Amino acid sequence: MKIAFFDAKDYDIPSFEKYGKEKGIEFKYFETKLSADTAGLARGFDGVCVFVNDTVDRPVIDILYDAGIRVIALRCAGYNNVDLSYCFGRIHVVRVPAYSPYAVAEHTMALLLTSVRRIHKAYNRTKDFNFSLSGLTGFDLHGKTVGVVGTGKIGKIFIDLCRGFGMNILAYDKFPSAEGVDYVPLDELLGKSDIISLHCPLTEETYHLIGAEAIEKLKKGVILLNTSRGALIDAEALLDGIKQRKIGAACLDVYEEESDLFFRDFSGHILEDDVLARLISMPNVIVTSHQAFLTEEALGNIAETTVQNLATFFGGGICENELCYRCGNVETCMKERREKCF
Ligand code: NAI
Repeated sequence: MKIAFFDAKDYDIPSFEKYGKEKGIEFKYFETKLSADTAGLARGFDGVCVFVNDTVDRPVIDILYDAGIRVIALRCAGYNNVDLSYCFGRIHVVRVPAYSPYAVAEHTMALLLTSVRRIHKAYNRTKDFNFSLSGLTGFDLHGKTVGVVGTGKIGKIFIDLCRGFGMNILAYDKFPSAEGVDYVPLDELLGKSDIISLHCPLTEETYHLIGAEAIEKLKKGVILLNTSRGALIDAEALLDGIKQRKIGAACLDVYEEESDLFFRDFSGHILEDDVLARLISMPNVIVTSHQAFLTEEALGNIAETTVQNLATFFGGGICENELCYRCGNVETCMKERREKCF
């Protein structure tokens, strides 16, 4: 089986080659992202493999379907970039529900520690033999209140890490599932937390969850952490909140307009995105470019699960990682779905 692999990066290839060979799946790596302009490249392949910033909207789905594609393998957990309802009845969509929740939770904690202990500033200073401590005063995490929005796989691990630091935990989730966690309404979490970390998926409901209205409710000086999806935060409102000194710091691994920027090298270019440029220029904003997942363990798990998903699909089996729009519950579509839904 031959799979067109979009938005390929050098770090993707070794593990996909390894697991692909084991299951007789051959990948052709395209550096370009999947879009209506590039979907035609999939003609002649048996399936496509995409990542977080590939576009799988109606025009793309039409092109892929006409090209004979019947399976899209997401090599990620989130699927907000896929029009699942339009795929329904046309193209099967499989994903990697968890590859290393530890990678993302640990990166979130790394960002938090970097921010509160000013490590990013100290690193630059000592590189320049500047050993002054002026302006580097941080604060203890111990005893602070962290509000965790979304207590799924990543959120739960992040809560464990925060507990290790002696922090108080508040949580909000539409479907609470964590044991021994103090769930509160979202507004209460927004008003009481010293630090807020977002770990819920991007849906119509969570789009701009943190916008101007929510920012009004925040504690002055709050630290916002977003390693989930960029559009959970209204970036312009965030910028205003920082300028008004309401938000004390922001650590962002994701950005709502990241798809044309992240994973690429723009050094030496003029950044067209004024909001991102302004955010990056702020001393209390740390941006990483969607790298929270990027550990050796996660890359291996992503490749292994994606290859297994494709092998199961092509073998005619029921893939437990298939996303099914019709069943409503995209996480745990029932066993007989292939007959029922497609
Ligand atoms: P998960 O599915 O295990 O947990 C998501 C949680 O969010 C669930 O408990 C769910 O009930 C909750 N939720 C759903 N709708 C909600 C709402 N409207 N309000 C509040 N909570 C809601 O997902 P997991 O694995 O923990 O991942 C969380 C997110 O992290 C993913 O959606 C993805 O966007 C992001 N992610 C980011 C990565 C990165 O590299 N930066 C890598 C992997 C995931």
